[in-house]
Amino acid sequence: MKLGATPRHVGLIMDGNGRWAKKRLLPRTVGHGAGMDALVKLTAHAKEAGVEYFTLYALSTENLKNRPQSEIDGLFNLLRKYFTGNIGKLREGGTAVKIIGDISVLPQDIREMLQSAQSGSPEGAKFTLTFAINYGGRPEIVRAAQLAAASGEVTADSLAKNLYTAGLPDPDLIIRTGGEIRLSNFLLWQSAYAELYFTPVLFPDFSVKEFDKALKEYSERNRRYGGIK
Ligand code: IPE
Ligand code: IPE
Ligand code: MG
Repeated sequence: MKLGATPRHVGLIMDGNGRWAKKRLLPRTVGHGAGMDALVKLTAHAKEAGVEYFTLYALSTENLKNRPQSEIDGLFNLLRKYFTGNIGKLREGGTAVKIIGDISVLPQDIREMLQSAQSGSPEGAKFTLTFAINYGGRPEIVRAAQLAAASGEVTADSLAKNLYTAGLPDPDLIIRTGGEIRLSNFLLWQSAYAELYFTPVLFPDFSVKEFDKALKEYSERNRRYGGIK
């Protein structure tokens, strides 16, 4: 890999859990569980690979609106399991946790769990793990525009400062597993100059090796930002 070409901030759209389960005649929630196992491995690997910010699309505003309550409840249970089982290890490893999205409508215990995961984050962490939960890029931009307008100054900078992602650099690389070629409302403002990587691999099968393929491809991309180099 070319020196210095590791993406500082990687966004990950973890898609394909349902299809992974369906292929095995298993309930969708089992697919989400398998996705969670993949995620734990990827997170440790991303940190080792020198990624500084890793942002995971866990639940979209549309998922919350459009999926059956039974699946949403299954996802909430997995969030409970993930945070109870991993937060200690993440803290010991000096990882900061950040939540983006509207968590005000989530069950109270989940809200409290997410808030305490964030507030217990170490200062000056070298690795920040961000979970997008009940997140949508459009509602995020609308909210930021309203806050910026209330502050009396609507500029690109003031708007960015009012996004949930304030304080994070823009993503360098956005990976989507599961074969769909779209962003599905993920980091719309922030992705303006992100490199996009789409793979048909279903998320539970998205291994460390597959992640490295994305990093390699990123290192070979030419980021011009409208210039000519
Ligand atoms: C992504 O997997 C996880 C969430 C949206 C929570 P899906 O559940 O969308 O899986 P597919 O796309 O149906 O296979
Ligand atoms: C995007 O996946 C959301 C997450 C991975 C959390 P979806 O499965 O919800 O996206 P669509 O519906 O195929 O666009
Ligand atoms: Mg999907």
